[in-house]
Amino acid sequence: MSSKENIDFRSDTVTLPSEEMLEAIRHAPLGDDVFREDPTVNRLETLAAERMGKEAALLVSSGTQANLISLMNNTKHGELVILEAQSHIYWYEVGGISRIAGLLPWPLTSRIGAFDPEDLEVAIQHQDIHFPEPALVCIENTHNRHGGTIIKPAQIKAISDVAHTHGLKLYMDGARIFNAAVALKVDVKKFTKHVDNLMFCLSKSLCCPVGSLLVGTCEFVEKARKLRKLLGGGMRQAGIIAAPGIVALEKMIDRLEEDHRNARRLAEGIAEIDGIKVDLSRVQTNMVYFDIADLGISAESFTSRLEEYGILTLNLDNNIVRMVTHRGIEEEHVKKAIVAIEKVSEELHR
Ligand SMILES: Cc1ncc(COP(=O)(O)O)c(C=O)c1O
Repeated sequence: MSSKENIDFRSDTVTLPSEEMLEAIRHAPLGDDVFREDPTVNRLETLAAERMGKEAALLVSSGTQANLISLMNNTKHGELVILEAQSHIYWYEVGGISRIAGLLPWPLTSRIGAFDPEDLEVAIQHQDIHFPEPALVCIENTHNRHGGTIIKPAQIKAISDVAHTHGLKLYMDGARIFNAAVALKVDVKKFTKHVDNLMFCLSKSLCCPVGSLLVGTCEFVEKARKLRKLLGGGMRQAGIIAAPGIVALEKMIDRLEEDHRNARRLAEGIAEIDGIKVDLSRVQTNMVYFDIADLGISAESFTSRLEEYGILTLNLDNNIVRMVTHRGIEEEHVKKAIVAIEKVSEELHR
């Protein structure tokens, strides 16, 4: 929670570390990670690789840095990257894909997060002398701007078959991949099996203060280590970041189910309110997006009015409001939020 009075639904990044995480930080054995001598980092990286069913992993400072390193790692400067049009890499990473990695993003649209393998095939076939060489395909799972939607293992396989047939690598921005695994009640390895490499975040619904992990082959991770250094991301006693990460992987995954239940309750409650539209089919994990266009007010003004009731939300685009459930949001908070949204909507109807 951002303050005592407010209930903070803006993002799962607002989560604070648990007592156990703070204890783990306090007692973590430390060393210089640039020399590979931090035992806590080494333990976390081994654990992350095992969990994902890949050879190796690397701790980096953020999801954005993980994506940038992976883009650079999987391509050569000047090549083309096919990604989903609403993806975080395309929208929210300051254009690092072009500015730093020197790549041409080639966005494909999709209905709810996973582009059609046939569209991918067409996009790859379309390339000729006028275009840079396509090198990489990226997916995002769960898909943030589509509402925390899941790309199922079978869909990943179909996309990977097309990418690999044409000699392209497949990378997954799996910032919230554990949400997908918990929601479908399957091992996370089912999602990672068909991608060449991926990242996932510790700092979102897993409640850590900092950190993301890149996961892939030993060769990928060795190269990533050097790219991380290039980008100024080599860390020293990073065990203080890794220690809560170990707690997260061991203790914080199963509880995501609770966040999903709360998101569903919230979405169903909001769907009952006049003038608000919620696409319940998109409420698959811990996010709820709703459309307030019919209320005749901008999402920015709507979120400001909700704030007066102590409910913090995020306005995305003109008419869209986002709410995210996470550790610290309980059923009673969901009820309060629904009441506040109802009140604000009624005030507007008057
Ligand atoms: C899907 C996705 N990828 C990457 C990121 C970037 O993570 P960070 O904020 O740690 O840079 C985010 C952040 O919200 C995200 O939602």
